[in-house]
Amino acid sequence: MCGIIGYVGNNNSVPYIIDGLKKLEYRGYDSAGISIIQDGSLVTVRAVGKVAELEKAALIANPKGGTGIGHTRWATHGKPSEENSHPHTDCTGDIVVVHNGIIENYLTLRAKLESRGHRFKSETDTEVIAHLIEENLLHVRASNDPDRLLKAVQKTNKEISGAFAYGVLWARTPGLLIGVKNQSPMVVGLGKNENFLASDVPAFLKHTNKVLFLEDGEIAVLHVDGVTVIGKDGKEAKPKPVKISWDQQTAEKGGYEHFMLKEIYDQPQAIEDTLRTARTDFGKILGLDTEGIRKLRNIHIIACGTAYHAGLVGKYYIEQLAGIPVSVDLASEYKYRSVPQLPHTLAVAISQSGETADTIGAVKKAQSLGFRTLAVCNVLGSTLTRTCDSTFFTHCGPEISVASTKAFTSQITSMYALAVFLGQANGNLSKTVFDKLYKELLTLSKSMSEVVKLEYDVRHLTRKIYKADRFIFLGRNVNFPIALEGALKLKEVSYRSAEGFAAGEIKHGPISVIDKGTPVIMIMPHDALFEKMLSACQECRARGAFVVAVTTKAGAKQARGVADKLIIVPQAGEFLQPVINVVPLQFLAYWIAKRLGCDIDQPRNLAKSVTVE
Ligand code: F6R
Repeated sequence: MCGIIGYVGNNNSVPYIIDGLKKLEYRGYDSAGISIIQDGSLVTVRAVGKVAELEKAALIANPKGGTGIGHTRWATHGKPSEENSHPHTDCTGDIVVVHNGIIENYLTLRAKLESRGHRFKSETDTEVIAHLIEENLLHVRASNDPDRLLKAVQKTNKEISGAFAYGVLWARTPGLLIGVKNQSPMVVGLGKNENFLASDVPAFLKHTNKVLFLEDGEIAVLHVDGVTVIGKDGKEAKPKPVKISWDQQTAEKGGYEHFMLKEIYDQPQAIEDTLRTARTDFGKILGLDTEGIRKLRNIHIIACGTAYHAGLVGKYYIEQLAGIPVSVDLASEYKYRSVPQLPHTLAVAISQSGETADTIGAVKKAQSLGFRTLAVCNVLGSTLTRTCDSTFFTHCGPEISVASTKAFTSQITSMYALAVFLGQANGNLSKTVFDKLYKELLTLSKSMSEVVKLEYDVRHLTRKIYKADRFIFLGRNVNFPIALEGALKLKEVSYRSAEGFAAGEIKHGPISVIDKGTPVIMIMPHDALFEKMLSACQECRARGAFVVAVTTKAGAKQARGVADKLIIVPQAGEFLQPVINVVPLQFLAYWIAKRLGCDIDQPRNLAKSVTVE
């Protein structure tokens, strides 16, 4: 996600900001920029690519001033380009804004602002903030009011909606920097005659470890000699500064030991952010009208690895909710198999990175067969998004750990939203069922916040099983792909042998590998196939397996006594249960790998994005 750093102090802000941006590089970005107040005007320098490019450009422009802001951009609205990189300015060029998050109502706001004569220079949602502040400054009557910028910001916050954190400078008020936090991260660093605003502590940790963690709805007003925080109610809030004892590396991981663990914990927010777009955008994104959707006869899902497992879940969703036949292929197979050239086929390519060569190759094949293509992708501007006809953006933020976690749950959530949308549009779902399914979707992030609390239980469990050299994961129906994903995660980070099976299949062969003490992880929420999973539990137990049942409260009663250990997950809607169920499996992989001393974020032999065939 985008990174923000701001400085007010007695020194030249440029080196602080450039250095802060470098410290935020781990968040992922495609372009960067800075704005400095110099002699009553703003000097802005922006560059596509690395912060090193920006640094070179800044050396040439050579801006100087004690008040400045900087930004690393992870494209969400508009392609990665210099025009779309932050800071963004208003019509006068006197206001600059850097922003992290999404302004949901930006299209409406932009249309209104344009009708009032504002000229936009970028495709971003961010730019509306700068123009709104420009207008709102005019509404603060007393031109010498020291709180004029603050008041304009407060008024602006009432007009925008979504998740956002932003920083603002006004050329007329050097020595003043304002920061806003609403559902996206923003912290303040308290220094001596200098203060910092940032998305994350590492940006300024070198200069101060005294931090104010802002709450949603709060505004920080930074001057050289002090910081005031204004609460949601408009009154001064007095948050207590926290002394951070993290080193630089720990700070980048938000205090977690590994990115994988941080990203598991990022999931409630990632789901929330993904849903924000899913709620509004699917029809537009697909570029198909109701008639076009009714005509769809086939959906081909193509993906690799974890994304392929998300595709398998998607098949259950789309076939059941939209009644459209779905095939799911490993992209590397799709490319070389004979695919019937049927009309009215939509190919859906799922990829976190958007750079996976196999997936891109498969999409090209789908296009050569005349199929419409949709990317479900986490990196805007990536090759896949540029290749497909349209893109649904998963919005889970950059995933740094090689083992995919939050991208997976965001991908499944997107598949669910797609299925529900298609089902409603083609008449397969009644309005009542559609409303119920959608309501369930909106509670998903809350259930995710609950399920991450299971880390301690899972960690404790792994003490008993981490030395096993073979692990089996079993599930049925929509939880079968979750068993596959649980096994893949464990293999990737712990190098242990792990296999996932459809529970009904074990008697056809796999049961022969079960031995005394073999850990068998059964994903068995209390659903229509619960009794069958219980039977599979007994079959494994009879062969000496150590059975762990991942189940819901309703299933726990019956599973107790049959399984050796229960992991009780929150109950979500029938279709959403897999999103919840995978989280303890992610913790399981993490803790087994940790106990075995593996390199969790960079497992041997693996790359985050596989750009070769
Ligand atoms: C698993 C993992 C890989 C990727 C696969 C596809 O943890 O990270 O299996 O899922 O290489 O990558 P993307 O989604 O970038 O196409």
